[in-house]
Amino acid sequence: MPGWWDSAVVYEIYPRSFQDSNGDGVGDLPGIASRLPYLEWLGVDAVWLAPIYASPLADFGYDVSDHTAVAPEYGTLADLDALLEDAHGRGIRVLLDLVVSHTSIEHPWFRDRPDFYVWADGPEPPNNWIASFGGPAWSRDPRSGRLYLHSFYPEQPDLDWRNPELREAMAGVVRFWRERGVDGFRVDAVDRMVKDLALRDDPVTSEPFPLPLHADLTGLDLIHSRDAPEIGVALGTLREAAGEAPLIGEVYLPVERVIPYLDSFDAVFGFELLHAEWDAEQLAAAIVRSQSAGAIAWVTSNHDFPRVATRWGERNARAAAVLLLTLGGSAFVYMGEEIGMADGPGGDPPLDRFDRDRCRHPMQWESEPDGGFSTGEPWLPLVDPEVRSVADQRDEPDSILSLFRNLIAVRREIDGQPERLDAPAGVLAFRRGEHLIAINTADRPAPLPLAGELLLESVAGALQPDGDGRRLAANAAVVLRAG
Ligand code: GLC
Ligand code: CA
Repeated sequence: MPGWWDSAVVYEIYPRSFQDSNGDGVGDLPGIASRLPYLEWLGVDAVWLAPIYASPLADFGYDVSDHTAVAPEYGTLADLDALLEDAHGRGIRVLLDLVVSHTSIEHPWFRDRPDFYVWADGPEPPNNWIASFGGPAWSRDPRSGRLYLHSFYPEQPDLDWRNPELREAMAGVVRFWRERGVDGFRVDAVDRMVKDLALRDDPVTSEPFPLPLHADLTGLDLIHSRDAPEIGVALGTLREAAGEAPLIGEVYLPVERVIPYLDSFDAVFGFELLHAEWDAEQLAAAIVRSQSAGAIAWVTSNHDFPRVATRWGERNARAAAVLLLTLGGSAFVYMGEEIGMADGPGGDPPLDRFDRDRCRHPMQWESEPDGGFSTGEPWLPLVDPEVRSVADQRDEPDSILSLFRNLIAVRREIDGQPERLDAPAGVLAFRRGEHLIAINTADRPAPLPLAGELLLESVAGALQPDGDGRRLAANAAVVLRAG
């Protein structure tokens, strides 16, 4: 079903780190609202808010203790209503994060509705399933003495989507937010919703999984601990409750296995691109494979993985922006990427349990040491506001921020599925309708055998005359209009 999200630019906000409004060092909803003029200026179609719900923060909000309450440190339901109204007035849609495969262990359901969870009895775990962040996926509940399943941290017991009453309860959550005016959902860890009913072991394999996994998980064929064939009923419940609102799925599986999810969801993230090396052939292969599945939401960074400048190198960050924003499909831009932020230091344990805070440092609005993020002590230090900030880059035509803004504007004119074109080694070139896009992934210039008028370049001088033809500078990218 085609809709506004099909080619939308969605800006991911990690609420803790975007903008603090009350000096407690933690970002919040009024802070987000105060930055809507910026997002409107940037030109994004929608924002995705990582979880804002009540949570004991064992996994920073991905452990939900009340699905229909806003965490007090982020604000109130009234703040969310105000944010929705303001965003909608600016033509910006708002997606919430729907955490469906587990709750917090402190969710009242865990005590009041044990039938909503997955249990086993006996002295040992019933199988060899491993949690995403390592260690067994089973822990003992001290109160009942039983073992409960948790695909992530022990504080995140897995829900049982085979239970029709659980399905109805979660459908109610979706309807609650829809009625409040939320425009759609990014759905968390969808591949963990339904597991093997017989709880069979994941078999041992020598085939590598094409996406990075915790070391404890490598060597296992992850076929029973997730992605059970009966997933359709669970997905159908969400689809029906969401109505027309888009559902974008986080399905952390190889491309072939995401296809069934697209029967009910509007798009799934293309994680093979995020994890590809910055190399024309590898990028092209990941793109072609992902597209073969269907509707892909492109993403090159998010709150879980190293940022682009860290993973693909600062010198490639601009060309990577061109790639993300010129592929057909929706594009998810993680906050801070538009000013070229790199990862910062990891957070302190026990809060940063999996070293994921490196990519969650506060947004850098101003060039002062506090980055304009908070008047108080930020929950995680700023990385380098003196080096990069929105204030410094906004009126600077050659900044990466200006590049993002120009790309978002130019992409509205680009239409049609990408078709790969012949290009010299190291250059990824494709055509979309009358537009030609060329990305030099190499550290040396390359001849560019494509004719066309220059519409956008990742950096001034990306396209240079070369004898009778032209060449593309090292690490640079261009968008051309075919003559
Ligand atoms: C998803 C989220 C991640 C979270 C996990 C468990 O992968 O993106 O941040 O830890 O699900 O909810
Ligand atoms: Ca705050």
